[in-house]
Amino acid sequence: MTADLPADLETYLLQSHVALALAAPDDDSPLLLVNEGFSALTGFRPRDVIGKNCRFLQKHADNTRAKARIHAFFDRDDQSSVRTDLVNFRKDGTPFINLLYMSKLRGRSGEVRYIFASQFDISRSRPDLLASYEGELAETLSGLRPILSETGTILDGSLVTIANSAIMIAQAKLLLSSLEDARPGA
Ligand SMILES: Cc1cc2nc3c(=O)[nH]c(=O)nc-3n(C[C@H](O)[C@H](O)[C@H](O)COP(=O)(O)O)c2cc1C
Repeated sequence: MTADLPADLETYLLQSHVALALAAPDDDSPLLLVNEGFSALTGFRPRDVIGKNCRFLQKHADNTRAKARIHAFFDRDDQSSVRTDLVNFRKDGTPFINLLYMSKLRGRSGEVRYIFASQFDISRSRPDLLASYEGELAETLSGLRPILSETGTILDGSLVTIANSAIMIAQAKLLLSSLEDARPGA
């Protein structure tokens, strides 16, 4: 069992098929849990990443726009969730465009207890695969609510689905191919 994490919450997140991560809200948002989906996507096992901030996936990528969106999510108490795409790298160095969703899990007095996140490789996807990911993530979030409520925790906000998945995927593929062209030896 992970320290400070209710057992039911941990079990629930670990069995989900979509990539998930949970971090503590304090210090530098150290990861408390990543599931199999996260390891399958990134190549990093829990022992590689627990206790670290997840920005290591970005290596030296710029991601200025995405990071500004994430900073706004952290800084603004009234912003319950964020969705953004950003350049990430798997453990073997392969780049991908990560569609990252993050939301705040709050205690009864409104304090942030955990940051919940889900990752999806939008650059190697298709509209139907993105649609099924969106469905699974929405299901995961609705199943999470009753589990959280047992410990007086609330999932802040809901999932805003991607308005035009075909365009988003096409843009991510273009960005990925420009990154691959720029790789040494390409
Ligand atoms: C639970 C959680 C999961 C995250 N997952 C990712 C991720 O998969 N990829 C990524 O690039 N950043 C991820 N982040 C965001 C980074 O950790 C960090 O917040 C972001 O890079 C902005 O902060 P910085 O400008 O200090 O790096 C995650 C953050 C949290 C709290």
